[in-house]
Amino acid sequence: MNIYTFRDEEQFVQTGANLISSLLHTNPRAKLGLATGSTPVGLYAKLIEMNRQGLVSFAQTTTYNLDEYVGLPENHPESYRTFMNEKFFHHVDIQIERTHVPNGNAANPEEECLNYDKMLEEFGPVDLQLLGLGHNGHIGFNEPGESLSGGTHVVELQEKTRNANARFFPTLDDVPTHAITMGVATILKARQILLLVRGEDKAEIVHRALKGPITTACPASLLQCHPNVVVLLDQGAGRLLV
Ligand code: GLP
Repeated sequence: MNIYTFRDEEQFVQTGANLISSLLHTNPRAKLGLATGSTPVGLYAKLIEMNRQGLVSFAQTTTYNLDEYVGLPENHPESYRTFMNEKFFHHVDIQIERTHVPNGNAANPEEECLNYDKMLEEFGPVDLQLLGLGHNGHIGFNEPGESLSGGTHVVELQEKTRNANARFFPTLDDVPTHAITMGVATILKARQILLLVRGEDKAEIVHRALKGPITTACPASLLQCHPNVVVLLDQGAGRLLV
């Protein structure tokens, strides 16, 4: 694992953006695995800026998002499809039909999961998978527990996760109870993983994920098994690593 800690927010964001843009310079058709959450917002903004300046193009890129809430209409302000459209896709030269987010409204969610994996099998693996980190160690929506699922699956969200995400909804009751998420095996198939974490409140879980035992009790710890992981941390998140 290559772990970098940044004092400066701008450098943190620029480093992530440079990694993605140099991948696209080498391979304009690269497949990107994308993530939501507040952490990558600055990175998306930087990539938009670089796209406008002609420094990077997404014209031939295909993207696959990690996860989506079950049961939120696609155009709901808090659906991950809306998030991706508003924070990124609608502002860059990407072809929207090449962007994929699991369909949280599929009549048969189990089938949707199988189809998502089939698509990744056929067209993947992704060249770079962007990840954030949940306070409980989740990646995508792979919640800690006695076991983890390999493939894309429907997951019941833990209270800690619903509480953490309640800030985006009018009340806690409005936070969906289930989501579709790529599984850990799907995530680990990516050629490279770029994990971004910000904030003091994540310092402990960062330490557990990167330096603790590899365990399903902390899904992000499985990243230690991957041969090509880049971790970008701000000072708060990296506080316990020194
Ligand atoms: C959500 C997403 C994750 C994300 C996590 C952390 O639960 N499903 O993919 O990494 O939140 O979010 P934030 O970056 O807002 O702390």
